[in-house]
Amino acid sequence: MLRRLHKDQPATFAFTPANLAWAQAQITKYPPGRQASAVIPLLWRAQEQEGWLTRPAIERVADMLGMPYIRALEVATFYFMFQLQPVGSVAHVQICGTTSCMICGAEELIAVCKELIAPTPHTLSPDGRFSWEEVECMGACANAPMAQIGKDYYEDLTAAKLRDLIARFAAGQVPVPGSQNGRYAAEPLSGLTSLTDMDSSRRQYNATVQMAVDVGDTVRRIDGTEVALRTPWLDAEPAAADQAAEPAADHGPRARPQGLNSPRGGQPDDLQKIEGIGPALERLCNDLGIFHFDQIAAWGPEQVAWMDGNLKGFRGRVSRDRWVNQARIIVTQGMDEFLRRAKTNDY
Ligand code: FES
Repeated sequence: MLRRLHKDQPATFAFTPANLAWAQAQITKYPPGRQASAVIPLLWRAQEQEGWLTRPAIERVADMLGMPYIRALEVATFYFMFQLQPVGSVAHVQICGTTSCMICGAEELIAVCKELIAPTPHTLSPDGRFSWEEVECMGACANAPMAQIGKDYYEDLTAAKLRDLIARFAAGQVPVPGSQNGRYAAEPLSGLTSLTDMDSSRRQYNATVQMAVDVGDTVRRIDGTEVALRTPWLDAEPAAADQAAEPAADHGPRARPQGLNSPRGGQPDDLQKIEGIGPALERLCNDLGIFHFDQIAAWGPEQVAWMDGNLKGFRGRVSRDRWVNQARIIVTQGMDEFLRRAKTNDY
């Protein structure tokens, strides 16, 4: 199948402020120089926000990651999970047409989509609210035939059940995902044949369905306000167990490294050259008035301990990644020599 950018593209794309914060946080998961590793989550969030992936969105993500546009375009056009054309404003229905589902009735499901949505895949329904496509095996073969609608699976379908689901989505409802024929998960339709005492300990839904019900974003566009931003490595307070294992540093204010009000000459050093410092840690350092390698190179044990205990969400990083050693090599031997040694962690 040809996967091309849609002929009609919006002029611009911008993440919502919350989604932008989330996207920038994802980038910090990767070591310096490897920011492009965040391309799939960022493209995915752009799609969650807009419903489909526009050219301006792809280029915006490429810009954020310092990638040539063609590299981000290669990713977006390779993976079928990325929708390169507008999808229905209510739901995009993905019918599995692979062997198990085909044997169990996928063709009847596709016929329903053709009748109720549009005669051809990747085409909006006349009211613009639905679209559909046939996809390859979704890994739910034991519950064939199935469809992914929005972000969740609807399994053990029949043509009549799919009609009913589409009607309920059209009415503004979000039907409970999972098996639609009464099965709890993928057990035999006639009932459990082993682990039969599990019945009494079951929750109402299996774990996947329960999560879908709890999160509740099956067909919802994500602008960053509906779900908690999950960036615990950046903004979570240290867990209780963490605090117990490592009491908060108790160094007086004199141990705090001396900061500057602004970078000298208005030109901060690129602190991300230090292995272990990414965009989030660089921001934290700048907030503390640390802008230059020679400031870090001058820290003694007290300052290292203070920084280790006060970098919220990154406790212990200064000593773990030997920032002071790295900075001293940069200051005394130059960046080229540091980069040569950094290849083998020789610092
Ligand atoms: S064949 Fe349809 S989910 Fe595997």
